[in-house]
Amino acid sequence: MIYVVAIIAAIAGVLFGFDEGVIAGALAALRSEFGISAFEEGFMTSAVPLGALFGALLAGMLAEQYGRRATLLLASVLFTLGAVLAGLSSGVWSLTMCRLLLGLAVGLAATVAPLFISENAPSDKRGLLVSIYQLAVTIGILSAYLVNYALDDQWRLMFMLGALPGLALLFGMMRQSDTPRWLMSQGREQQARQTLARLRKRAPDDPAIGQELLEMTDALSHHQDQARWKDLLDRRLRPALVVGIGLFVLQQFSGINAVIYYAPSVFTEAGFSSDSTPILASLGVGVVNVLMTLVGMYLIDRIGRRRLLYLGFLGTAIGLGMIALGAATGSAYLDVLAVAGLIIYIGSFAASIGPLPWVMMSEIYPLRGRSLAMSLTTISNWLFNFLVVFSFPVLIASAGLGTVFGLYALTCLVGLYFTWQYVPETNGVSLEHIERHLYSGIPFAQLRPPPVIEVETSQPDISYDTALLMVGSLIALSPYRTGLAGIQERIAVVAFDNRQIRTALREVHARAGVSRISRLTRNDLGPQRWVLMTFLEHVWFASPEFLRSVGQPPSNDRFDQRSDLDKESS
Ligand code: BGC
Repeated sequence: MIYVVAIIAAIAGVLFGFDEGVIAGALAALRSEFGISAFEEGFMTSAVPLGALFGALLAGMLAEQYGRRATLLLASVLFTLGAVLAGLSSGVWSLTMCRLLLGLAVGLAATVAPLFISENAPSDKRGLLVSIYQLAVTIGILSAYLVNYALDDQWRLMFMLGALPGLALLFGMMRQSDTPRWLMSQGREQQARQTLARLRKRAPDDPAIGQELLEMTDALSHHQDQARWKDLLDRRLRPALVVGIGLFVLQQFSGINAVIYYAPSVFTEAGFSSDSTPILASLGVGVVNVLMTLVGMYLIDRIGRRRLLYLGFLGTAIGLGMIALGAATGSAYLDVLAVAGLIIYIGSFAASIGPLPWVMMSEIYPLRGRSLAMSLTTISNWLFNFLVVFSFPVLIASAGLGTVFGLYALTCLVGLYFTWQYVPETNGVSLEHIERHLYSGIPFAQLRPPPVIEVETSQPDISYDTALLMVGSLIALSPYRTGLAGIQERIAVVAFDNRQIRTALREVHARAGVSRISRLTRNDLGPQRWVLMTFLEHVWFASPEFLRSVGQPPSNDRFDQRSDLDKESS
């Protein structure tokens, strides 16, 4: 089953990539057949991301009302129809309309396919599926370039071949049923039970199936009265939105789609004269894009998100800078500089700022409002994609290749600062911990995986709410209570995620009993007293950055208070 889900993810990604890439090879033929202006060229090319923007806007509503399956079926029909009509177009404007239709289908598929996947796939496979999706996008782009190369200037056939992934999605989806979660939301419990049983390879009356359905009903009632657009205005969500949308702004303004959509034109502009070299060089771009995405998938969980972003933004800035420099100075080696620069650029992009915004988007938002925040983030991707692709021909005509690529290089430098200042390290951190950190008010970029200290206890674990209560009563016992009381929640987050402190809390909890946790005495703490009080002392004496981040300036008299603690603890 997981393979079927992966294949659907892959087809949706290929659809996205193919339509991005196919125009690159068709442009030269279209220019000579229709004699188009820079404005018309920009609009026709960017019609796909523009259509996708509307597709993504519509997708949520259609998927709720008519189901994930029906929306994906609609997308596949539109996609097939759009590809055939594009191939039959009689002029630039009818082609632009067809590309808008194709974009609509891409937007629907690219939004609903991940939803279909996350509602079917076991949770531990979700991350992998997100990466497979990005890999499929690059494979879609490469297939389009291959088609461009093989078909030379037969642009009608190029577009028509795009019907193939559309048909694949159509036939693939016809054999699927909708997701159990959507069926439950429609009150179709019997069907939901059958589907879930098939997915989990169990009998429909298996208690595990019943339990999962029950959890779905629970989550659904929760979800319906919680998910509202106005939830996104919650101030505490802002740091996550800044990261999610910010990464897409940077990804798109690094100029990736100027290269992907216009690759052969960029190579021609960069001094390649013969007819086939620019297309061949574009094929190179497509291959590097696929291969380096695989490298990124390997690195992402090994070196972490922030480090990979630094490498990505640095590499893309260098690559783009080389192209800009070559073009602006009219260097005799422009073609060499352009090829080397583009390889460095595409390689760094594909391994890092290509997949990372998608991966991080699925990690940083709290459960409440997650799907809406993800929709908004995806929509921003299409919007900035459209702006870059639309403006490129006009900018090239007015400012030239050097200036435009110089601007893209600058964006990547901004990306370095943005990563340092705003992006959290989510690698190896549970979604719940990310959420708690976000709500604690500590700057988002300070998120790090909690340290693992091997301390054992046989006492049962405690919930975060219990930890919060206990921290409250510990603060009341501390000599620093006046300073610490205002940051109780923030301390609780740190305490709960630190293995050693949590273990101490579990011991105290077991000794004192539930009824006493909100009014603990020194006696209740027993042997854990030293660990817990030292922890609070550490928080109080923490680094100036920590104190500043929690709104507590380091005070001058804290050394006097230290002797106070010594007196108390002795
Ligand atoms: C971006 C697309 C881009 C693609 C290139 C994706 O992550 O969102 O806009 O065309 O990467 O591989």
